[in-house]
Amino acid sequence: MMPAKVTVPEIIKMKQRGEKITALTAYDYSFGRILDAAGVDILLVGDSLGSVIQGQKSTLPVTLEEMIYHTKAVVRGAERALTVADMPFLSYQVSVEQAKQNAGRFLQEAGAEAVKIEGGVAMLETIKAIVQIGIPVMGHVGLTPQSIHRFGGYKVQGKDKKQRDAVLADALSVEEAGAFSIVLEGIPADLGQEVTRRLTIPTIGIGAGLHCDGQVLVVHDMLGLFDMYTPKFVKKYADLKGIMSEAVKTFIAEVREGKFPDEQHSFH
Ligand code: KIV
Repeated sequence: MMPAKVTVPEIIKMKQRGEKITALTAYDYSFGRILDAAGVDILLVGDSLGSVIQGQKSTLPVTLEEMIYHTKAVVRGAERALTVADMPFLSYQVSVEQAKQNAGRFLQEAGAEAVKIEGGVAMLETIKAIVQIGIPVMGHVGLTPQSIHRFGGYKVQGKDKKQRDAVLADALSVEEAGAFSIVLEGIPADLGQEVTRRLTIPTIGIGAGLHCDGQVLVVHDMLGLFDMYTPKFVKKYADLKGIMSEAVKTFIAEVREGKFPDEQHSFH
């Protein structure tokens, strides 16, 4: 039997019990339903939808209204998993008031149970203010995609001492601000291990090595649906692109040959 509904306190307890946390992105009802029924702990409505759903070159063009739309759909498909919505670029950086208002919309309008915010030291006051009004926050440090222009591209962070210290300081700030968990993206595995050891809140890694408290992947990457580029940390657990292509080719051939619809799929 599948364990009960996953909640924010439950995610924190999973670290304390030494249980690994699983998270995948979802952007619509059907995927949300399938991943939820399969038993994933967290459904993250990531702004990665900019790439895999919208075909954008980065996450920067994704808007608040688009994120709310996709979050509503995922929430309808989620029974057990904790649903976390990514706050998109410019929806939380302009002012703390704006951040609180927009974070609240994800809970009030979309039905999410938590929001995710990129940034560490610079976001301390913002995260604190959102948490204080009762909205659980998941942090996100390391390679934060909304800052790609500052990084000069999708580059692994924390490779030298200065960057390492910066990633650690960011992670500690996120914990101090009251976040319930934190995504560590694109950092060396040993740094992922050190941050995980230093924090009491769970770390969810993506390209951050084996020692994080949990792992997250973009669902289109791990199912082999998105092949524009594949980062080193992605493991393809299926080739859904291949399966879809074969199914579509068979449909085209059967329609052209007059084999579909057959008796079984016709009304009389
Ligand atoms: O947008 C996203 O999907 C994310 C995950 C990759 C962590 O932030």
